[in-house]
Amino acid sequence: MTSTQADNLWVLALASKCSQENIAWLLLIMASLCISMALFYWSHPGGPAWGKYYSTWTKSTNLNHNHNHNHASDNNKMIPGPKGYPIIGSMTLMASLAHRRIAAAAKACSATRLMAFSLGDTRFIVTCHHEVAKEILNSTVFADRPIKESAYSLMFNRAIGFAPYGVYWRTLRRIAATHLFCPKQIKASEFQRAEIAAQLTDSFRNRHGEFRVREALKKASLNHMMWSVFGQRYNLDETNTGMEELAGLVEQGYDLLGTLNWGDHIPFLKDFDLQKIRFTCSKLVPKVNRFVGSIIAHHQADITQTNRDFVHVLLSLQGSDKLSHSDMIAVLWEMIFRGTDTVAVLIEWILARMVLHPEVQRKVQEELDAVVGGGGSRVLTEEDVAALVYLPAVVKEVLRLHPPGPLLSWARLAITDTTIDGYHVPAGTTAMVNMWAIARDPKVWVNPLQFMPERFLNGEPEFSVFGSDLRLAPFGSGRRTCPGKNLGLTTATFWVARLLHEFEWEPSDGVDLTEVLRLSCEMANPLSVVVRPRRGLST
Ligand code: HEM
Repeated sequence: MTSTQADNLWVLALASKCSQENIAWLLLIMASLCISMALFYWSHPGGPAWGKYYSTWTKSTNLNHNHNHNHASDNNKMIPGPKGYPIIGSMTLMASLAHRRIAAAAKACSATRLMAFSLGDTRFIVTCHHEVAKEILNSTVFADRPIKESAYSLMFNRAIGFAPYGVYWRTLRRIAATHLFCPKQIKASEFQRAEIAAQLTDSFRNRHGEFRVREALKKASLNHMMWSVFGQRYNLDETNTGMEELAGLVEQGYDLLGTLNWGDHIPFLKDFDLQKIRFTCSKLVPKVNRFVGSIIAHHQADITQTNRDFVHVLLSLQGSDKLSHSDMIAVLWEMIFRGTDTVAVLIEWILARMVLHPEVQRKVQEELDAVVGGGGSRVLTEEDVAALVYLPAVVKEVLRLHPPGPLLSWARLAITDTTIDGYHVPAGTTAMVNMWAIARDPKVWVNPLQFMPERFLNGEPEFSVFGSDLRLAPFGSGRRTCPGKNLGLTTATFWVARLLHEFEWEPSDGVDLTEVLRLSCEMANPLSVVVRPRRGLST
């Protein structure tokens, strides 16, 4: 080796050593910067996503301030809330029974009116106060839904629930309101509910000893939606592979939509699909397409169309209302999906309360007997329900203590910057209403934890749960309120009336009111009962 070659090697080695060191330093500086930034963002009320926003927002406010001396100083007020952890924020709030955790966090931060928190990069606000809930839900700014990958993968962005606020969403709501949810249509499907109620009571009458009610209620609810939406009639007692497949698809959908997807909030995790949500959706969607698609094809082939159902309605749409094949699948699938679970969950909670409070059950039965007659009387009909006062109060009290959607199921998204409860809320913020906490607020409700249907009997005028009074709005309120609320409440009230008129309900082994929050909040331990027929008994 010559001396020049040796010099070159030495220089190269030094250079490479230096650059390695430089790179290491650079990486160290960058890592420290990232950690400092993460800690800086995290140090703000509401955690990292809010910190990220406030760090730019303050600057722009100051800029505005230089140009506009009238700028309100309130703009600098930050919404109180937990910081959570750096980067991930308050993911743990959503871990299980989110409504309870959020209510506790809001109390701890003295932020029950409005609390800010972060899930990764997503800014959230949540209220546990009815006045602020009204401000959020009734504002046009919050007429959109946040993007959820599972909802998009499951095609719900083309159905009412997750469609962006706009012409398409308005068209779908109008079509559904006219052909599925209007009072005339609900009345027209009365015989379907009566038929399913008869099947339900027959199936319970044949049970000996203790049994769980959940499976039968879910099946009855699914049969009801299948009949009114698809025009397909199934018997509760018959085993049908098609129906079992559909029930399985619906259950899988609930799990997917009810799971908090980390990728929705932490962008660098999105591609990894760690929870296999994208993967499971991709397996589920072709099955849904096949199932619903074959029902549509069947309807297209049926030229006689004697019994017009919702599929026929969608197929007959013309002009700007006409839906593509895939949009039709999304809309129909959503109806089955939304209409099945909520009603069955609500009825199970009502029956649980009836078993737990035999004196209330007796009062309901006395009212039913007064309207319809006692032992040996005729069968109760949906028309009889209009004459009831006490049972609707019982249903409201159950909706108050056990709302199927304690956080109103699906959140809202701010389309533009706005002000809520005096705080600046930027566009792109996700808003939630903790209806569970509002409905148990001791400042609003006397003895809020007690089951007292009588509280709804003395008010004048009658308390509406349909969204005009935010102290109890289990179906939401404003533009995105539940379109199926009349149908859902009519079905649940009628079936419960029928079941209580037909049977006395007793617990088989106590009643456990522990909750589990999936897409809806249901009983963690399914209700198990023993029933005794009443109508055959002398009163
Ligand atoms: C006990 C029964 C039910 C309860 C407690 C319930 C509850 C809710 C709640 C809380 C929302 C969100 C409202 C908001 O953001 O303000 C909602 C939305 C919705 N519900 Fe219901 N629901 C019930 C029954 C039904 C039924 C029977 C159907 C249809 C067959 C249905 C279809 C929908 C749809 C499509 C939306 C989305 C509306 C939109 O984004 O524009 N629901 N429901």
